[in-house]
Amino acid sequence: MGPETSSTVQHPETLQWSGTIDGHVVLIEQTLLPEREQEVEIANPAEMIDAIVRLAVRGAPALGVAGAYAVCLATRKLTDLDEVRGRLASEMPKIRDARPTAVNLATMVDRMQRVIDASTAATGTALREELLAEAQKIHQEDRDLCRAIGEAGAPLIEDGETVLTHCNAGALATGGSGTALSVIFHAWAAGRRFRVIADETRPLLQGARLTAWELARVGIPVTVICDNAAAHLFSQGEIQRVITGADRIAANGDAANKIGTYGVAVLAARHEVPFFIAAPSTTFDFQTPRGSEIPIEERAGEEVWGAVSDAPPPAGIEFRNPAFDVTPRELIAGWITEAGVLQPPFEAIRP
Ligand code: MRU
Repeated sequence: MGPETSSTVQHPETLQWSGTIDGHVVLIEQTLLPEREQEVEIANPAEMIDAIVRLAVRGAPALGVAGAYAVCLATRKLTDLDEVRGRLASEMPKIRDARPTAVNLATMVDRMQRVIDASTAATGTALREELLAEAQKIHQEDRDLCRAIGEAGAPLIEDGETVLTHCNAGALATGGSGTALSVIFHAWAAGRRFRVIADETRPLLQGARLTAWELARVGIPVTVICDNAAAHLFSQGEIQRVITGADRIAANGDAANKIGTYGVAVLAARHEVPFFIAAPSTTFDFQTPRGSEIPIEERAGEEVWGAVSDAPPPAGIEFRNPAFDVTPRELIAGWITEAGVLQPPFEAIRP
């Protein structure tokens, strides 16, 4: 499996399965980017859960692929069918719950569960082969979804404009070329020339560390700004379009994404700049009617201070660290999916 290309654009291969059913997962260690491009080998579900929790692998579609592979890792070296089924039953809920907001993780673990439920395999090994085939199918489907999102959204970007994005919705966040960044990669590959503004995305700086790295390495002009500089640039007419990813989109179109996205959407509306969400159908949660019902991950307060200083904070200070917010559907101009740029009720992708 070579890295996916969108015409001339080479994407990093975020996560790979190493070999046979007794293989392991190889991830790009995203916490070290951009200083170091280092791979990490994941051999069991506990290691994958740890990688997910500390954001070594992150982004909604990548979490779905990682979750499916983690299910395969749970039964490494087991051959007895009862043992395999027992291990899966104990490990899968832990994998499913590793992070709560991105629906892709739960969706793909549930999809693996349906394979287990429907399996007539007579041996543990045969069931494990079915599971690895399903995980690899999920991975390949995600590559195809990314490409289709890029193709659907690329015509939106016009020559000479500046596109703002928040967090990282690139190859690093998916099994393919990304969602919001796939749109950008495809527009660039089609010959459109434009600039990208990457919000730094506090507290963990996915925009400054990851989005800027992904764009710069393929020669797309990118400018990193502090999150709190966005309002000024909107007010100066310097931003013509916003495209972000999503972690979960409710049935009515409300979209959860990295904390700060809602603020960007409010600014975009105030300045009559179109705000788009780019996401595959696998990020839509039609069981959740509206955004207020999407679970929002609260992460450790230390992350807020950790971006400020390596020294401990002065005594008496508390921190809050909600990792996501919800942008209401009325602020979203269009939802860029593999089935085109859609509007609620999303008939083209509704199951
Ligand atoms: O906490 P993270 O880094 O996993 O948050 C990721 C995002 O918010 C992305 O924008 C989203 O998952 C879409 S990825 C294609």
